Amino acid sequence: MAEKKALKEKFRRDYTPTNYFVEQVNLLFQVFEDCTKVSSSLKVKRRDGAPENAPFQLDGEGLTLQSLSIDGETLPPSRYSWVEEDLLEISGPLPSSFVLQSLVTTKPEENTQLSGLYKSSSIYCTQCEAEGFRRITLMQDRPDIMATYEVRIEADKESCPVLLSNGNMTENGDLENGRHFATYNDPFPKPSYLFAMVAGDLGFIRDTFVTRSEKVVALNMYSEHNNVKKLYHAMDSLKKAMRWDEETFGLEYDLDIFNVVAVNDFNMGAMENKSLNIFNTSCVLASPETATDADYERIQGIIAHEYFHNWTGNRVTCRDWFQLTLKEGLTVFRDQQFSMDMTSAAVKRIEDVNVVRSMQFPEDNGPMAHPIRPESYIAMDNFYTVTVYRKGAEVIRMYHTLLGKEGFRKGMDLYFQRHDGSAVTCDDFRRAMADANGVDLTQFERWYLQAGTPVVRCEAKYDVEAKRLSLLLKQSCRTPQGGDALPFHMPIRVGFLAQDGSELLPERVLELKEASQEFVIENVNSKPVLSLLRGFSAPIKLEYERDDEELAFLMAHDKDSFNRWEAGQLMFSRTIHANAKAMQAGQAMQLNAKLVDAVRRTLLDTSLDKSLQAYALTLPNLQNLAESMEIVDPDALVDAYKFTKKEIARSLRDHLLKTYEANLLPEDSFRNDAEAIGMRRLKNVCLGYLAALGDKEVLDVCLKQALTANCMTDLVAAASCLAANPGEQSDKALEHFYQQHAKDDNLVFCKWIAIQAAACTDQALEIVDKLFKHPSFTIKNPNICRSLFISFAGNMKHFHRADGSGHRWLTDRILELDKLNPQTAAKILTKLAGYKRFDAPRQASMKAQLERVRNTEGVSKDTMEIAIRALA
Ligand code: ARG
Ligand code: ZN
Repeated sequence: MAEKKALKEKFRRDYTPTNYFVEQVNLLFQVFEDCTKVSSSLKVKRRDGAPENAPFQLDGEGLTLQSLSIDGETLPPSRYSWVEEDLLEISGPLPSSFVLQSLVTTKPEENTQLSGLYKSSSIYCTQCEAEGFRRITLMQDRPDIMATYEVRIEADKESCPVLLSNGNMTENGDLENGRHFATYNDPFPKPSYLFAMVAGDLGFIRDTFVTRSEKVVALNMYSEHNNVKKLYHAMDSLKKAMRWDEETFGLEYDLDIFNVVAVNDFNMGAMENKSLNIFNTSCVLASPETATDADYERIQGIIAHEYFHNWTGNRVTCRDWFQLTLKEGLTVFRDQQFSMDMTSAAVKRIEDVNVVRSMQFPEDNGPMAHPIRPESYIAMDNFYTVTVYRKGAEVIRMYHTLLGKEGFRKGMDLYFQRHDGSAVTCDDFRRAMADANGVDLTQFERWYLQAGTPVVRCEAKYDVEAKRLSLLLKQSCRTPQGGDALPFHMPIRVGFLAQDGSELLPERVLELKEASQEFVIENVNSKPVLSLLRGFSAPIKLEYERDDEELAFLMAHDKDSFNRWEAGQLMFSRTIHANAKAMQAGQAMQLNAKLVDAVRRTLLDTSLDKSLQAYALTLPNLQNLAESMEIVDPDALVDAYKFTKKEIARSLRDHLLKTYEANLLPEDSFRNDAEAIGMRRLKNVCLGYLAALGDKEVLDVCLKQALTANCMTDLVAAASCLAANPGEQSDKALEHFYQQHAKDDNLVFCKWIAIQAAACTDQALEIVDKLFKHPSFTIKNPNICRSLFISFAGNMKHFHRADGSGHRWLTDRILELDKLNPQTAAKILTKLAGYKRFDAPRQASMKAQLERVRNTEGVSKDTMEIAIRALA
């Protein structure tokens, strides 16, 4: 195979079905200390109508091919060749049905890419999505080839007592030389990306779930022995998810067994392999001492997400990888709905919208912008993006809002009725939604075709005489190519508030379809205050003129919790942006008295839900604020942010301290019910304000919390406050954190790194460099890499130092990482892609680093694709 990676771009429009298809896969894995042998036997059929002499193409990457035969006869080398570096072609003619056998050897212990078969600590495991199966054996490695799998694993019994694959275990037993075997059969046809196998010395917990048709499902969760006690929260979450999917969508689990395995080294969060989910330890292990409240919620959401894929992804899968959002957008929507039902709907919605605004909007507004259904890719792994996942979920949410809960359910039912067991497209999903409800969703396709964030401007007119309210909505959207997008079909949820805060009229969903559209509402008795885009009913930027009084009114009265929060966020960002402008003009920054009043009112209102109260008190994050700056000036923005936070803290110091104290929980007993979580959230937001003051008294409060915390939530909160205030207390807290918790626990070590890398201090770059050289730092573990690199990239002022030192430092690391793990290196490089949004010196520096990557010999196709697209 050729050394040089050819950069081949694949296009959505080029989709064609194959001439042959694999129907049944038989695999034998013989795992040895230094090498694994994979024997495969593929039952292949020629498709009706395909030419008899058509060649048969198989994907294979980095394989050492030992032998190849058809129907038992060894194929002479003249019959096959590598037509591309990862594509083997067997020349025709071939029988209309035949068995292709191959033997390859691989070295999992040397697989640092963590794609295909690899070793994580002492565990052999696989990751095949998107195109990793071809790194295990020759196969038509594309999702429209669905086959049944029979797998036999052989390994040393002592080092690998646990042997797992998809489906049911059919046999197991001992072999010679201290080895043993197990065989598995998965009756459901599946694409190769859902294949998985695991071999290792694992501990486990067991449970069962009885489905609504009274089938008993065995649930097993596996991890390294010392982590087994941290699996219970995940197990609990799984059972809740199984029940929820039955109740909400009538979807029941379809096999007798469901396994989850936790591994340390994993490029993403988790993977939905049929009946054998494999998880990054960070997304499954939880104990109060090692996981924060946010981690508990995230784990619950991801366990549900992977479980939900069994129907949305596995039973109905994607025809090709351009359709990724078909399963991911839908499954994210499902896990979001689940979490809303399990915890608090408003809190969850606020968190999800924050992700869309602070991560997806910038992606959509930069050179990496792509529609939720991309048109082309070089490395598919680069398209597991916030756009495909999160904006994809917002698009599904819009069907839900437009069609209503029942209508959406009808659409889902029809989708499964039509497509169960097949590989389909986003258009098939849209058609099921439309047909089940008898509505026209033609225009809705534009969400799949056009990138960019639409801006919707609203103008309201109220005619007192006629009692008529008219709302003029105008939408516009710039595409990444610089043109104007065609108008989108979107739901705008609107509430109408009377002067006393009550609902003047019932809430409405306005269906906006035109570039400019007027909605007239009759019999409106007085001029309402509008509550627009309730619950963030469309992934857009809303523009509507209103003053601070009106925002304060909404903060106090809107019955939509999301919009109450939203009004407060708007008020915060106005002040911060005004201060950033003042800063740039060399003028004094100021604190808006109305903002302080509003914050005080929120702080003192003990009738509020504490989680919502905490979010209402939280400043918009910097990424979010940067998005609405014409030219991002990190220095002015961060200084304005810090000034605003500090001045609020100065004005409300006593109230903040009192609220902090009022929400302390007893240290001797840990609780993680909703009330306790709300109390911690509120208390720690207060602590964050107080820490902005940076005086001895408040830093001592932080230190006390760090030293006496009975849970990771409180430790992380206090340590983060202190990391931003270097000095005696900070040193003590971080040392305590390391000694007590981080030094023996990989996931806690990651938190310890992340806190320091994100801290906005003058020493930031020196600190990250020191962390990089820390004896426990290893570039081979993606979680550790992300904790350092991604956290530092979010450290707005210091990553974006005007002298370019932050950009250079990160690029050095990316180039080093790329040699081992292209997927993770490429992900980190996206942090440099948004350069056009910055001022001239920073643009030049970020661009220079992207060019450096592009000009480096031997860079992976993953990382090269990001550099090329970013510079295009
Ligand atoms: N399907 C997985 C999920 O549930 C993500 C796998 C992504 N894999 C990758 N190599 N990019 O979201
Ligand atoms: Zn997923």
